[in-house]
Amino acid sequence: MQAVVLVGGLGTRLRPLTETIPKQLLPVAGVPMIERVLGQLALHGVDRAVLSMGYLPDAFVAAYPGGRIGGVSVSFAIEPVALGTAGAIRFAGHAGSIDETFLAVNGDVLTDLDVTALIDAHRSRGAEGTIHLTPVDDPTRYGVVVTDATGLVTSFVEKPEPGTSPSNNINAGTYVLEPSFLGRVPDAAMVSVEREIFPRMVHDRSLYAIVDSSYWIDAGTPQAYLRANKDILDATRTVSHPGSLIDRTLVLEGASVAASATISCSVIGRNARVGDGASIVGSVVLEGATIGDRASVTDAVIGPDAVIGADATLLDDCLIGASERVPERERRSGTARAA
Ligand code: GTP
Repeated sequence: MQAVVLVGGLGTRLRPLTETIPKQLLPVAGVPMIERVLGQLALHGVDRAVLSMGYLPDAFVAAYPGGRIGGVSVSFAIEPVALGTAGAIRFAGHAGSIDETFLAVNGDVLTDLDVTALIDAHRSRGAEGTIHLTPVDDPTRYGVVVTDATGLVTSFVEKPEPGTSPSNNINAGTYVLEPSFLGRVPDAAMVSVEREIFPRMVHDRSLYAIVDSSYWIDAGTPQAYLRANKDILDATRTVSHPGSLIDRTLVLEGASVAASATISCSVIGRNARVGDGASIVGSVVLEGATIGDRASVTDAVIGPDAVIGADATLLDDCLIGASERVPERERRSGTARAA
């Protein structure tokens, strides 16, 4: 089966990391997000994928010159301008000459969804599209999907006010689609699946959904990106990773950690260096970064080759960009940056 994987977003919520690295190339417990996404699809029979891209496309081509990612043969569809989620699926679908049932997935969703069951449900109902729904405690930040007893989607409610949501099941970003979906998308910039195309399919009674509560996370915010890493470190999600995991900490090849440093529930990337007396808690230190002596890093992501000065303090979902330098004794909070 063929899949379209959306990887063309700007990833603004993960800036400055995503100023130089597209979100889906950021590693989660040592493995780039896109490899985790495609590896999971491969388990369910996906053998070809079109990466639908626009932002920093060269980074993907350079990272995977052989055109294989996570066991799947990939081609690259590069949009001339941002097309929105539906426009991107249409563009990639035509680039991949898709003419049979296919999958479309958001490239920043990490899930253990039973894709085979989703495809089976789609086929048994003769649907034009079938959406994976996941239950969440607080649906107010998401697109809520309402179905009848047969799974037919009856309405969408985008970001409901607290206490008003008709359901806790949200659109989880994996779709099984018929090729006729591509014909529904106008040839225009910025067409949204969720806001424009799916509502028309609801009107035509051709859109279904099933709830699957397997592991699911949309890794697009600093908190969620850190969570996706920690879920593997503490075995909430059991998937493979490079290196050895000791005490919920993953120290990857070539990294050096001073004996007096304290590390807990964190990833120390390849060739990274952690200085004397440094403390790293609940954080991700990416490849080649240097953490100065006595620096304190809590719930932070340190970009590749960044240098954190001695005695600096980073906390509260703070993101440090690739090759950025944080001066000695500086204090940075992700909350302050967002404010
Ligand atoms: P933010 O800017 O932080 O909201 O992130 P984002 O740009 O990635 O947006 P969002 O998380 O809503 O996107 C969901 C998925 O769709 C991600 O995998 C994006 O890479 C992808 N995406 C969003 N817009 C486009 C687009 O115009 N073209 C393509 N090809 N993919 C897109």
